[in-house]
Amino acid sequence: MLTREQNELLTRVGPGTPMGELLRRYWHPVAVSSQFKDHGTKPVRILGEDLVLFRDRSGRLGLIGDRCQHRRAGMVFGIPEQDGLRCAYHGWMYNAAGQCIEQPYESTEDPGSAFKDKITIKAYPVSELGGLIFAYLGPEPVPVLPRWDIYVMDGVVRDIGSGVVPCNWLQIMDNSMDPIHVEWLHQRFTDYVFEHLGRPRRRVVREGERDERGWRHVKIGFTVFEHGITKRRVLEGGSEEDEDWTIGHPVVFPNILRTPNAFQIRVPVDDTHTWHVWYSTYAPKPDSVEQTPETIPYFEVPIPRCLEPASRTGLCWITTAARTSPSGTRKAGSPTARRSTSGALTEGWSSTARYSNSRWRSRCVATIQ
Ligand code: FES
Ligand SMILES: [Fe+2]
Repeated sequence: MLTREQNELLTRVGPGTPMGELLRRYWHPVAVSSQFKDHGTKPVRILGEDLVLFRDRSGRLGLIGDRCQHRRAGMVFGIPEQDGLRCAYHGWMYNAAGQCIEQPYESTEDPGSAFKDKITIKAYPVSELGGLIFAYLGPEPVPVLPRWDIYVMDGVVRDIGSGVVPCNWLQIMDNSMDPIHVEWLHQRFTDYVFEHLGRPRRRVVREGERDERGWRHVKIGFTVFEHGITKRRVLEGGSEEDEDWTIGHPVVFPNILRTPNAFQIRVPVDDTHTWHVWYSTYAPKPDSVEQTPETIPYFEVPIPRCLEPASRTGLCWITTAARTSPSGTRKAGSPTARRSTSGALTEGWSSTARYSNSRWRSRCVATIQ
């Protein structure tokens, strides 16, 4: 059992906290390229800092403080120019390095003024890879952005999903080191939900795996390796020859889970929120369209937020079976699992989760209202 002090040490992520400083030594995704192709701005909250990501008209990305150094106007309202972001209030302009490069009225009054040279705004390095936009918030020297295989491998199609989970980043990483929950939460619980929805039980089976394989864990193991810890499992009917044991699921320090075809990246937003990114690769289908980083499809993953205890709201989402017609088929207009726009292969537990989450959220919203 962690002490309160140990818990604080591991979970606080703001500037100046020990874990916050450690996490700042790593690149973290802050946006998806396909969602940020053109010039514009986007608010970013990461590691307890409020920032503004912008793309100027030359295509250059910048990540700067969210308040103008002049009168604290929100830079998210800034106007992207050829070489920077111009504050909407009085027109001061900042480049991607955070240097103020224009002060329109001040320069009119005193054309020789060097005042702007003294003005800087917080700014962090930004880099794009594999359809994600990454930022580095730590001290120099800036490390190389890791080119993990999943970001750069050829011959695959990709999609990217994300959602903000209302918990500390470490809680999600803790879950990644817990193999057994897959058998219960992802399999048996999903079966239970499907039973109530009047749908056939659904095995969570990856392409090419034996459908008849059980999901009862008979052995688990953990191995420390250069970049983290690999968790392994042997399932009933399987053996240590299976990839679940020979390869396992590497948990890449500090905040990435690798599954056979995907990364799950847990970006700390602040002490109580985490931006969860599902970055997946698939074997292309004959009709798959060639992707560029800017065309990788993106989907939002609805995260259920039950604001009140179920007993107080009357919330009982398992009864969503009521949305199923007596014949057991879904009513027209009821939610369906989303598919990525590439038609890419979003089958699997994640689409199950999206389907279920969508219903959970709808049910939560309907009940709370
Ligand atoms: S507040 Fe930004 S230019 Fe005045
Ligand atoms: Fe899980």
